[in-house]
Amino acid sequence: MTAPRAPLVTAPSASEIAHAAERLEAGELVAFPTETVYGLGGDAENAQAIARIYAAKGRPANHPVIVHLSPTADPAYWVRELTPDAQRLIAAFWPGPLTLILKRAAHIPEAVSGGQDSVGLRCPSHPVAQALLEAFKGGKGGVAAPSANRFGRVSPTTAQHVREEFGDTVEVLDGGPCEVGIESTIVDLSRGFAALLRPGHVSAQQIADVLGVAPRLPDGRDATAPRASGTLKAHYAPNTPLALLGFEEIAQALALLQSGERVAVVARASRASHLANLPGIQFIAAPDNPLHYARDLYSLLRGLDRASVQRIFVERLPDGPEWAAVNDRLGRAAAAFLSDR
Ligand code: TXA
Ligand code: MG
Repeated sequence: MTAPRAPLVTAPSASEIAHAAERLEAGELVAFPTETVYGLGGDAENAQAIARIYAAKGRPANHPVIVHLSPTADPAYWVRELTPDAQRLIAAFWPGPLTLILKRAAHIPEAVSGGQDSVGLRCPSHPVAQALLEAFKGGKGGVAAPSANRFGRVSPTTAQHVREEFGDTVEVLDGGPCEVGIESTIVDLSRGFAALLRPGHVSAQQIADVLGVAPRLPDGRDATAPRASGTLKAHYAPNTPLALLGFEEIAQALALLQSGERVAVVARASRASHLANLPGIQFIAAPDNPLHYARDLYSLLRGLDRASVQRIFVERLPDGPEWAAVNDRLGRAAAAFLSDR
């Protein structure tokens, strides 16, 4: 027997959900929680609503957005063909943090895919997301939703984060903090083979186990890969310069600090508690467990922006598959401050 899910501490009322669904049907935007991060939602079949999403985010119009479906919706409606691989991955991981890229059906407006001939689909497991998707168009619609942050910034994992991004201009359904904390795994099935475009909570190994063959991994040389903003090298960046360093390098960097310079050091508590009491250093103890690290990562990066430090040193994490998704996001946050980007 699986453990019952803990009841949500924060949940919008039925009338708030109904109101939010009406706003979506009217072409307005609503931010809502998912198990990964908060999304900025609009009717996926309404090109004007999609245009509003791009405008609010400040995102280039050629970047595709993910279409969110209720568990009762028919994914086949959105695609040219729900391939056998897609059916297997859906059976294994939906609802949950996995997005599939497939060839888009001809009647689906190309606005959702930034002009590409594909569409990204995902069925979230978060109960508030599901309630909203059930209420919207009787559960038959699709809600296009990128992460509810301005382009290039850290994704929001609480309703408060969304308010920090958009103020009062966007209505937010508050479903409490996101459990997964980083964006969904993206698997591209639109080119006749499976390719991992973005690592996430659903691992490459889990996908390989279901498909019987390992997905191609992102290596930056995949020239025919669909464009995906989450796959840009410099992305997910805080405002404060961030460097990924090994322990030795952190010690060297700290020894070279100018007097009065303030830095934050993020490292796993078990490894680096000796740094906690050094003067001028704000030590942030990160979780040892990779799942908890992922859950806390974006909150932590946002907190660092408020910590009034000049630089952030983050402990480089191990290379193992359990750290792949966190390493991916940290690598991009650091890449935003490298001169060769
Ligand atoms: O966990 C998530 O996926 C969150 C929540 C809200 O569901 N959404 C999210 O959306 O991360 P966004 O837009 O920030 O990132 C979606 C990624 C982007 O990199 C986008 O380019 C890619 O998915 N994507 C969406 N549709 C695509 C398509 N047709 N082809 C290639 N990439 C696509
Ligand atoms: Mg995003």
